[in-house]
Amino acid sequence: MKKILTGIKPSGVIHLGNYLGMIKEVIEFQGKYEIFLMIADLHAQTVPYSPKELRKLTLDIAKSLVALGVDPKKTVLFKQSDVPAHLYLYWILGCLVSEGDLRRMHEYKEQKEKHKENVGAGILMYPVLMAADILIYNADLVPVGKDQEQHLELTRELVRKFNNKFGKLFKIPQVYIPSETSKIMSLTNPLKKMSKSEPEGCLEIFENEKRIKEKILKAVTDSEAVVKYDPEKKPGISNLMTIYKYLTKKSYHEIEEEFKNKGYYEFKLAVYKAFMNFFKEKRERKKRLSDSYIQKLLILGAKKANKVANENLEKILKATGLR
Ligand code: TRP
Repeated sequence: MKKILTGIKPSGVIHLGNYLGMIKEVIEFQGKYEIFLMIADLHAQTVPYSPKELRKLTLDIAKSLVALGVDPKKTVLFKQSDVPAHLYLYWILGCLVSEGDLRRMHEYKEQKEKHKENVGAGILMYPVLMAADILIYNADLVPVGKDQEQHLELTRELVRKFNNKFGKLFKIPQVYIPSETSKIMSLTNPLKKMSKSEPEGCLEIFENEKRIKEKILKAVTDSEAVVKYDPEKKPGISNLMTIYKYLTKKSYHEIEEEFKNKGYYEFKLAVYKAFMNFFKEKRERKKRLSDSYIQKLLILGAKKANKVANENLEKILKATGLR
């Protein structure tokens, strides 16, 4: 079976953009691929963070993933820091990567700007650890959001370098970018991607129902009062339509018909209802999952991940002269 690896940083709670952009796709791949789904707690350390918060978010994200449909029998769900082989390969790849290439990464420049001097070299090495995450499992396919594309390109470059120097140990991983759904925009600023940095525009899947309703009803629209898909002229309404489309499986055309001669309030109310309806069971499931059950799952996941990673590590150590 072909392998998928992907990671999610425990730097916030899961929102609709994360779900439609990547999680939903990974869940649909279950059974068709061998899936390694990792909580990237080491990556979360590259920007200022609190240990207590990191611990809490890591557990919470794992719980959310299971509630959303990650099946621990089909998917290896684990914490990145529980598999030391990632860090071993990270060092080896770090000695191969060119510093100039790292400094060219958009995300590096962005994060550096955001946190000014308040970050260590980890932020520069971030994509090298990502490459190690992927290659230690020799993954075939890596589902990621569009913002991670450049990091994947660097991974592919590192595979070429490594294979040239030490023998053909790694496959060149394919990037999988979920199409339209990766473009869920902020409700308050529909020209920007939905992100937790703009909480009012960010629909968190497990937050309280009142807040969800509030946020949807307050979403930015336009003054035309026509529900019509036109991302250029009507980015707010079009974004709500994209959300509604995925929650109800209706087409843009069907949505336009449904809300013909109806106001935005009615449309927004329908989006809210569709959201609650779509996530109802998942939200209830999350409440029933205990911390200790999730902790056990993560330990089990780490065991499986370590087995595969350590087997590959042996080969890597031999090829690179360390054994
Ligand atoms: N950097 C990714 C993100 O922010 C998370 C991640 C870490 C990842 N390691 C990975 C994704 C390896 C894919 C493969 O979304």
